[in-house]
Amino acid sequence: MKKVFVKSYGCQMNVYDAERMTDMLAAEGYSETKAMEEADLVILNTCHIREKAAEKVYSELGRVRELKQEREAQGHETKIVVAGCVAQAEGKEILRRQSAVDVVVGPQNYHHLPDLLKRAKSERPVDTEFPIEDKFDHLPRLEKSRIQTRGVTAFLTIQEGCDKFCTFCVVPYTRGAEVSRPVAKILDEAMRLADAGVRELTLIGQNVNAYHGEGPDGQTWSLGRLLRRLAEVPAIARLRYTTSHPRDMDDELILAHGDLPALMPYLHLPVQSGSDRILDAMNRKHTGDEYRRLIERIRKVQPNLALSSDFIVGFPGETDADFEDTMRLVADVGFASSFSFKYSPRPGTPAAESDAQLPEEVKSERLARLQNLLETQRQAFNHGTVGQTLDVLLEKPGRHPGQMAGKSPYLQPVQFETDAHRIGEIVTVRIVRAGSNSLFGELIGPGDKAAA
Ligand code: 5AD
Ligand code: SF4
Repeated sequence: MKKVFVKSYGCQMNVYDAERMTDMLAAEGYSETKAMEEADLVILNTCHIREKAAEKVYSELGRVRELKQEREAQGHETKIVVAGCVAQAEGKEILRRQSAVDVVVGPQNYHHLPDLLKRAKSERPVDTEFPIEDKFDHLPRLEKSRIQTRGVTAFLTIQEGCDKFCTFCVVPYTRGAEVSRPVAKILDEAMRLADAGVRELTLIGQNVNAYHGEGPDGQTWSLGRLLRRLAEVPAIARLRYTTSHPRDMDDELILAHGDLPALMPYLHLPVQSGSDRILDAMNRKHTGDEYRRLIERIRKVQPNLALSSDFIVGFPGETDADFEDTMRLVADVGFASSFSFKYSPRPGTPAAESDAQLPEEVKSERLARLQNLLETQRQAFNHGTVGQTLDVLLEKPGRHPGQMAGKSPYLQPVQFETDAHRIGEIVTVRIVRAGSNSLFGELIGPGDKAAA
């Protein structure tokens, strides 16, 4: 049997796409391997969101090329595929710069892989056109046994692409215009996942709360309505969605946070900056205060809400005062966890053309200060759960015999002692200690019985 090795970079969308690629290649006779050296097919599923991403791919390709040559000397053939957003952005350039690459395929075209691999026997195909057909219709149905090897939590793509055109971001160019999958197809996939033991679904998309898919009733469904329907799928106990834009938090979605016990009280809602001037230059189309008011509205219906966000420091023209506005917003809102980045100019995006680029030292200094504050908030949030009783979804055995590990509603890893519970069960645990990344607790309730 031939072996495929996939290395994924970047966001959850790429994790999901990598799984779909291995599912599809399984039907073509490839088994997955975690060791690149033994792979007949190496796929780099790349990310283009920040600087040097393409350069990293080229240096990784240099290493893969050496491996290909070593295997060739031993009489084994290795095909190299570059997939994902660098493939989309760079296209043919990849073939020119690295002669060992056999196939370049964009994120909308990976359902063509079996055909591209056949063509790769006599040419070096590049497939980065946005196709008219829906790639999801051309991917194999999810096999129960394959889902089961991936555990009790799963990602489900409901939407792809983005029409927001934030001035720093390449996504609208690499992933294309916003497209929502029809409700019936999402429901079918959700039921298949649930049937194989999945208890927690994370709906994913580049701008997932802009979801506007065709419903079975012929109407356009919003994300709030879709979540309401998914909450009825038996065995699905937890729902999450990521990643969202503040402008797309409509009333139906906010109300869902109050009404649906399955919708976890943990929301990733990137704000990027706390300065109105910078938010405007980023084309975010909201102010810092509008973000604060939005959070208040969601907290009104879901008082247990915790938040995470993405931040960019050193956007072109960002002054000290603008940066202090970001620090103030973080202090006002309070985040349980966050991602923060130095602005990195992306070719083809408007902000990259600005003359007001900031020196690297300024970006680094601001990033260090922001990350300090965010880390203090993260630790405070984790310590704040000590003494609380939290539901924990059991995902795997713990570090020591007799322990189990799972996740809290806030995605915190939790460890506790038990030998009577199974993966897939949700139990109640009192948190007794917070480490730097995990929580430690004692079992106080049996939870539900719907284990995998
Ligand atoms: N520079 C720095 N960070 C960026 N992000 C997106 N584009 C850039 C860029 N050019 C960050 C944003 C986004 C996250 C996925 O990556 O914060 O929310
Ligand atoms: Fe990029 Fe997100 Fe803005 Fe879309 S909403 S352009 S994906 S940062």
